[in-house]
Amino acid sequence: MAKKIRLGILGGGGDSLIGILHRVASQINDNYEIVGAVFNPKFEDNISFAEEIDIPTNRIYKDFDTLVEEEMKLPESERIQVCSVLTPNFLHFPMAKKLLENGFSVICEKPMTTTYEEAKILQATLEKAGTIFAVTHTYTGYPMVRQMREMVKQGALGKIQKVDVRYYQGWLNPVIHDKEKRSSTWRLDPEKAGISCCMGDIGVHAFNMIEYTTGMQVKSILADLNYLYDDNQMDIDGTVLVRFDGNAKGVLRSSQIATGEENGLAIAIYGDKGGLRWEQENPNYLYVMSDDKPLQVYKPGHAYNSKLSLDGTKLPPGHPEGIFDSMANIYLGVSKAIRGQEYNDGEFPTIMDGVRGLNFIESTVASHKNGNTWVVLD
Ligand SMILES: NC(=O)c1ccc[n+]([C@@H]2O[C@H](COP(=O)([O-])OP(=O)(O)OC[C@H]3O[C@@H](n4cnc5c(N)ncnc54)[C@H](O)[C@@H]3O)[C@@H](O)[C@H]2O)c1
Repeated sequence: MAKKIRLGILGGGGDSLIGILHRVASQINDNYEIVGAVFNPKFEDNISFAEEIDIPTNRIYKDFDTLVEEEMKLPESERIQVCSVLTPNFLHFPMAKKLLENGFSVICEKPMTTTYEEAKILQATLEKAGTIFAVTHTYTGYPMVRQMREMVKQGALGKIQKVDVRYYQGWLNPVIHDKEKRSSTWRLDPEKAGISCCMGDIGVHAFNMIEYTTGMQVKSILADLNYLYDDNQMDIDGTVLVRFDGNAKGVLRSSQIATGEENGLAIAIYGDKGGLRWEQENPNYLYVMSDDKPLQVYKPGHAYNSKLSLDGTKLPPGHPEGIFDSMANIYLGVSKAIRGQEYNDGEFPTIMDGVRGLNFIESTVASHKNGNTWVVLD
């Protein structure tokens, strides 16, 4: 029996949104043991949170630099193998870079960095390090999203001609109209979040979803963003037209002021032979459409699904897969890579997805600021 992979966690304290998703997901397939962490910037909070969730406190460190320094003193057989970076965006780059330079593998939250330049530096750092790097575009872990990717790859839709992705949330509505609240939210602070709020936070998931499911690269974009208030420097809503090679086109709509919306990510892909439609809030149903057959609904766990999709289901059909399972599938893929086991293409988003994401975010803001002009992606 393989030993558990030694996992470190940065950020994701008890006060965070995403920490619990990573902690639970890392345990779902019995592959990881959390051995070290810096959950919060304050040491007392770190220790008390570790005690609360029953993680030994001897490797709970006062800050990130101390974690690296102390872990490097340990024999390799005891040292953290992979670290999850779950802090606000501006810390992803310095943390991930130093981790790679010291030989650790990294599971990094999105957006991978705050600038495209940093993303490319990280890519070069990974090439030298030769360790494993994943970006947690969580929704790629859903069995039916994986099925979409495989069906498109197998040609089930024919030639892709239209893509429509929407990611609507409403949580910023009560924040944005209150001057005090909007100046104290880190996602609206360029120092902490980077140059974009909506596109950087959720538009980037939608962009990744397009490239993950279609296997095609977006070639150029034109963006129209909304900031609502003059003192708000960060987009909170926007529409992006996308073009691929040939005549395939699409639209990416993203908003954090879509009042009342929760986590409304949805994608539809249309080819000359058929269409696929999937919604994150109803993730176990993949709608398969064609000109001449009744609507079909694909569900997880059935033998008609692809290997990539089936490798992401743990129970027989009828047991719904949710967001924790989706993230767990990414952790599973990373565990296979760390152990040198075979894994499917698409089991976890790579550094390239992170680099593409930053190319998208910066191009989107540039397009808007240049008066809604077309920008070619690298
Ligand atoms: N994959 C997804 O779907 C998804 C969803 C939500 C958030 N995220 C990403 O996860 C990251 C965190 O988002 P969140 O909503 O959990 O943020 P949050 O503000 O809720 O939590 C951030 C956590 O980081 C800790 N932290 C801050 N500075 C630190 C430091 N110097 N050292 C150690 N810990 C520190 C905070 O104490 C807190 O526990 C962001 O990059 C965000 O974009 C991804």
